[in-house]
Amino acid sequence: MHHIVQQLIDGVVLTGDVLTDVRTLIMKWGLSHTLEHCMRVSREAYQLARRFSVNADEAVVAGLLHDISDIVPSSEMVALAEALKLDVLPEERHFPPILHQRLSAEIAREIFRIDNRAVLSAIGCHTTLRKGASSLDKVVFLADKIQWNQPSTPPLRDAILICLDKSLDAAALCYLNCLWERRSDLAVIHPWMQEARNELLAMDKENSSGLTGLKKDLSD
Ligand SMILES: [Fe+2]
Ligand SMILES: [Fe+2]
Repeated sequence: MHHIVQQLIDGVVLTGDVLTDVRTLIMKWGLSHTLEHCMRVSREAYQLARRFSVNADEAVVAGLLHDISDIVPSSEMVALAEALKLDVLPEERHFPPILHQRLSAEIAREIFRIDNRAVLSAIGCHTTLRKGASSLDKVVFLADKIQWNQPSTPPLRDAILICLDKSLDAAALCYLNCLWERRSDLAVIHPWMQEARNELLAMDKENSSGLTGLKKDLSD
């Protein structure tokens, strides 16, 4: 384990049980709001997984761990990513908090010994999604947006829920389109987000499955 990651768990006794250890580690850093959010995302991911025939056990674990890197201060994220030999993108260097998705996957691997690539992938793109995303990636991405960790009403939650009646892809595209429309307000436009949206748009066009229909539903 990298010594910087080791420092994060100094004094923590890990049991090997993901739920117990997530709870212990997050509370060591006094982040009760993060713990509560991770629990809610995990439950939401479980429900979405059951609904869309995705592996629910993987969804639960990915949900629990998706924001585990909240224990790393934003000011230290680039240094940690570089220490872990991640290829830090210019957008991530410009706005380090966006790195938290990839750092959570690294912490899941290093500290929690998660070697399930599907779970690590879902954790690692839960904020932006990515091109070629799996159904599990989309489940965790959407669960995070539905169970938004801000005190205000989850943005776009209603839109996502309506689109989920169509499919995971429709809901993911719905959210990414809304983000795209307000891209001038975003701290950064992450290339993975752009690539995910472009891919979903192309698939939507190919199937002509009805983004038009989605827009109509949203305006009803
Ligand atoms: Fe997150
Ligand atoms: Fe989150």
